[in-house]
Amino acid sequence: MCVSIDGGFKEMKEGRFITVEGPDGAGKSTILKELYEKLVEDGHTVIKTREPGGVSIAEQIREVILNKHNTAMDIRTEALLYAAARRQHLVEVVVPALEKGAIVICDRFIDSSLAYQGNGRGIGMDEVMNINQFAIEDRMPDLTLYFDISPEEGLKRIAQHDGREVNRLDLESLDFHQKVYEGYQSLIKQYPERIKVVDARESKEEVFASAYEIVMGFLQN
Ligand code: TYD
Repeated sequence: MCVSIDGGFKEMKEGRFITVEGPDGAGKSTILKELYEKLVEDGHTVIKTREPGGVSIAEQIREVILNKHNTAMDIRTEALLYAAARRQHLVEVVVPALEKGAIVICDRFIDSSLAYQGNGRGIGMDEVMNINQFAIEDRMPDLTLYFDISPEEGLKRIAQHDGREVNRLDLESLDFHQKVYEGYQSLIKQYPERIKVVDARESKEEVFASAYEIVMGFLQN
């Protein structure tokens, strides 16, 4: 069982923490799966996981957050629930795997909260960063792949072929998704070393090739 102690998580011996981000409909989950399979084939120890969710308590929180009927949810409640789910998932899955030296690939992490709740909902990125600091204790990703697609194209893809169930966030207006997109753009500027952009409009093969190349470059350093 992993507990956070006074020094936080950052002093622990660890593997590599890679997160995958992007607006809804960017196709990141498909590429993430392929990336996972390729890295395993290459001989790495890899854990593939997702947010919100990934462990029982966090999956239960996910149900509450994404339930289409929870239209009364306050935006700060939403931000706190994402942070709570993040905390539990970090403690139960991410940190123990990193301590064992594994590569953890996580579908969404703190940048989603900064873009969606911070900019999309208008809480402010600094405020959302503050509550997330409490949850993550400085455990930021080592590398983030950002799958870039316009909100219009992303939403069109979901409507056309995504196949997954539409959730409460998908039902938001284009204006909301535009703000999320702008949130991500400012994060890319703020963290150029950590966040690497992949053009998600290309074919699946090309998107995968770009993502794999970035990860290889990162792992070899
Ligand atoms: P999900 O079905 O997992 O979508 P996706 O495949 O696009 O990741 O739903 C997650 C939704 O939650 C998605 O719309 C993004 C949103 N989200 C936030 O608003 N804040 C967060 O911190 C996280 C992790 C996700």
